[in-house]
Amino acid sequence: MKKVMLIFGTRPEAIKMCPLVLELKRRPEFETVVCVTGQHREMLDQILQCFQVTPQYDLSIMRDKQTLFDVTVNILEKLRAILETEKPDVALVHGDTSTAFVTALACFYMRIPVGHVEAGLRTYNLYSPFPEEFNRQAVDLIARFYFAPTELSRQNLLREGKPAERIHVTGNTVIDALDTTVKSDYTHPEIEWARGSRLILLTAHRRENLGEPMRDMFSAIRRVVDETPDIKVLYPMHKNPAVREMARACFGGQERIHMIEPLDVLDFHNLMAHAYLIMTDSGGIQEEAPALGKPVLVMRDTTERPEGVVAGTLKLVGTDENTIYTAVRELLGDPAAYHEMEHAANPYGDGHASRYIADILAREL
Ligand code: UD1
Ligand code: UDP
Repeated sequence: MKKVMLIFGTRPEAIKMCPLVLELKRRPEFETVVCVTGQHREMLDQILQCFQVTPQYDLSIMRDKQTLFDVTVNILEKLRAILETEKPDVALVHGDTSTAFVTALACFYMRIPVGHVEAGLRTYNLYSPFPEEFNRQAVDLIARFYFAPTELSRQNLLREGKPAERIHVTGNTVIDALDTTVKSDYTHPEIEWARGSRLILLTAHRRENLGEPMRDMFSAIRRVVDETPDIKVLYPMHKNPAVREMARACFGGQERIHMIEPLDVLDFHNLMAHAYLIMTDSGGIQEEAPALGKPVLVMRDTTERPEGVVAGTLKLVGTDENTIYTAVRELLGDPAAYHEMEHAANPYGDGHASRYIADILAREL
C-alpha cells in the first residue's frame, strides 16, 4: 500500500485539498495521512469541519500578525519529525502559500517526492502576488508530479523545461467542491437584507495590498456606496487584524456595508451565486466566479488566472482608488457591459480533478 501525505494550512488550500483527501480515503490502495500546518486557524477549521476531515497532525503554528519568517521557520522546524516518522511515498501540497513552499522544501531536504496540486500558475512577477509567485515557482522546481489545472498552466511548465511526462492536466479541484455546494433553494439572512438592492460581495486580504493599496480599494468602494442608493456591500472579513482595522476605518458608519465574519464555504459559494457583482483580490474566487457566471472586478495589477479574463468574467482593475471607482461606476451604469461579463464559463475542468489525481498516483507510485 502506498502512503500519500497531504499537507496544507490555509482556507483556500483546505477547500481545494479536502475533496482530494476524501477521494484518496475512499481508495483501499492508499494509506492517506493528513497534516495541517495551522497557518490559518479559524478559517482552516471551518473548512475541515465542512468536509468532515480530521487531520492526523496539526502543527498549530498560527500567531497573531505572523510574518513570513514566523511561518517559514515554524513549519520547517515542526514538520521534520513528522516526515521522519511517516516517510510518505509522496507528499501532496497545494498552490502557492508559505505552507506549500516550506513543505516542499522540507521534502526536498529529505528526498521525499512532492506532488504539486494546482501547478503551473504564473504571473512571472515575483512581487505580484507576493510572496505567492515565488512560492509556486519554487514548489515547481522541486515537484515530481505536476497536477496542472488547465492547458495554459501545462504550457507554462513546459516552457520552463519541466518534463512533459510528469505534467498532468486534471482541472482544478475547486470545481469538485463547487459542484456540491451551490443549491437553487438556498437562503441566508444577508440575502434577505440585500433584497431589492444590487449586492456587491467583497473580499480582500493580499499581503502586498495591506496598507495604502487596501485603503485605496476600500475608499473607492465607500464612495460608490455613498453615491449609489441601490447598492449594498457584503464583506466577510479576512481574520487578519491589519485588514480588519482598515475595513472598519473606511466602511464604519455606512449601513449599506455589512462587515461580517468569514463565511462557511457553502454559504460563501451560494452568496456568490446571489451577488450582482464580486470585488476581490483573492485567487480562488477568480476560479469560482466564471463557473457561476458572476462578473468580478479583480483589485490587483496581475493575475495568474487569465482564463477568466479571456472568458470575459474577470476584469483587472488594479488598486488605485480612482481607477477602481471609475470601473465600478461604469459597470453599474452600463447593463450591456454587465451582460457581456455575465456569461457562465468554466475553464477549470469537469469537477472530477480529485479522481484524476488519485488515478495518476495509483498508476505512477
Ligand atoms: C495566506 C497566504 C495567501 C493566501 C491566504 C488565503 C502565505 C504567505 N499567504 O495569507 O497566499 O491567499 O492565506 O486567505 O502563505 N488570521 C487569523 N485566523 C485565521 C487566519 C488568519 O487570526 O484563521 C490572522 C492572523 O493574525 C495571521 C494573519 O491573519 O497572523 C495573516 O495570516 P497569514 O496566513 O500569514 O496570511 P494571509 O494573508 O492569510
Ligand atoms: N471563501 C469562504 N468564505 C469567505 C470568503 C471566501 O469560504 O468568507 C472561499 C472562497 O469561496 C474561495 C476561497 O475561500 O474558495 C478563497 O480564499 P482566499 O481568498 O482566502 O485565498 P486565495 O484564494 O486568495 O488564496
